[in-house]
Amino acid sequence: MKAISVNNKFSEQFIPIELNNIIINELISAYNTLIDKTGKGKEFTGWIDTPKSILDSSLLYEVNEHIGSLKNKIDSVVVIGIGGSYLGAKAIIDALNYQHISNGIKIHYAGNDLNGINLSNLLNNLEREDYAVVVISKSGTTIEPAIAFRIIKEHIEKKYGTSEAANRIIAITDKEKGKLRETANQNNYKTFVIPDDVGGRFSVLTPVGLVPLAFAGIDINELVRGANDMAEICTKENDISKNPALQYAMTRYSLHALGFDVEILVNYLNQLNSLCEWWKQLFGESEGKDGKGLFPASTSFTTDLHSLGQFIQDGSKILFETILHIENIDKDVIIPKIENDFDGLNYLAGKSLHQINKIAEEATTQAHVDGGVPNITINIPQLNEYYLGQLIYMFEFACGIGGYMLDVNPFDQPGVEAYKKNMFKLLQY
Ligand code: PA5
Repeated sequence: MKAISVNNKFSEQFIPIELNNIIINELISAYNTLIDKTGKGKEFTGWIDTPKSILDSSLLYEVNEHIGSLKNKIDSVVVIGIGGSYLGAKAIIDALNYQHISNGIKIHYAGNDLNGINLSNLLNNLEREDYAVVVISKSGTTIEPAIAFRIIKEHIEKKYGTSEAANRIIAITDKEKGKLRETANQNNYKTFVIPDDVGGRFSVLTPVGLVPLAFAGIDINELVRGANDMAEICTKENDISKNPALQYAMTRYSLHALGFDVEILVNYLNQLNSLCEWWKQLFGESEGKDGKGLFPASTSFTTDLHSLGQFIQDGSKILFETILHIENIDKDVIIPKIENDFDGLNYLAGKSLHQINKIAEEATTQAHVDGGVPNITINIPQLNEYYLGQLIYMFEFACGIGGYMLDVNPFDQPGVEAYKKNMFKLLQY
């Protein structure tokens, strides 16, 4: 089986060997705590086994069947959710949609902000579109998706009548608790359950991600198969050099210990921007607590080399980069040879943009490393469901280890409550 891999060669020169020796013990202890499920937040470690339990169940069949029949009568779907309830699906859809796999079904997102302009535009579009709704909230009470659902529920019921609207709404929530569960039961919506032991940002491989992905034409079987293959490696391989999650967790932790406090996830294909957003939530919400944690940021090169590139190369030495390196792509453009060579670019004729992009990547990595910015590279053989499944699982696993190395609970998010408390007070709830 081919797998994604982690290359640390551009970080090693920054990390003293003595530090490595100390960190290896912490790493292995965090690893054992995670796989034994004995650490902080252990009740939310169900995601470790999710790929296997999904492959052993009828869930993928049920999702494909239900969405397959609904897809025949719609041209768009509105995915309502915030944070872990939508970022994972959007990450994969945006990464793969360039292949036009959705067969023309448009995916709209709502309930991930409080933006009246966006919602008003969406409602206008929905006047002209034949649509379905997927509403996702584990708690069933989060204010942003709850407001969006209230408004879109009214719209879809007016448009199709309550009974047909109910056929077009899917709710993904807790098996028994929360307002969304109550509403779904009362109205007879099709529902899928978010398992109790899986938190929002670790839920993309449950119905939270799988249902929107099935609407978008993504091969969810391949995605889960990739995740399961990576789970086999992550959970069973304790040789650091053979386990990409251990390698990644160890290097970023060492760099953090040396005062590199910001990790930038870098892509060279902006189809991966949403994946970077998902990653930022995963690591930011999991590690950033008790005054600790790396700040997760992201950039898309070469675009951002003409903006943030200056700071990365030359600014405060607080950054390191993790590069998402895609080895092969299946869509490209060749630079033509032109007779009068009006722009002087004939020296590039015959090369593809991807080839030049790879050279830009090599040149940038070298320049940044020379400028004192350590680099980690994650090699991804191809941009497809299978390797994205592997990548997602590897990041989740490394994140669990990272949290335990920092001695925080990687599976709660107490800091998210602070703004809500103030807002509800101001709204006089
Ligand atoms: O990772 C998390 O738990 C959060 O980001 C949640 O996913 C987010 O707050 C949405 O919560 P809910 O699904 O309960 O609406």
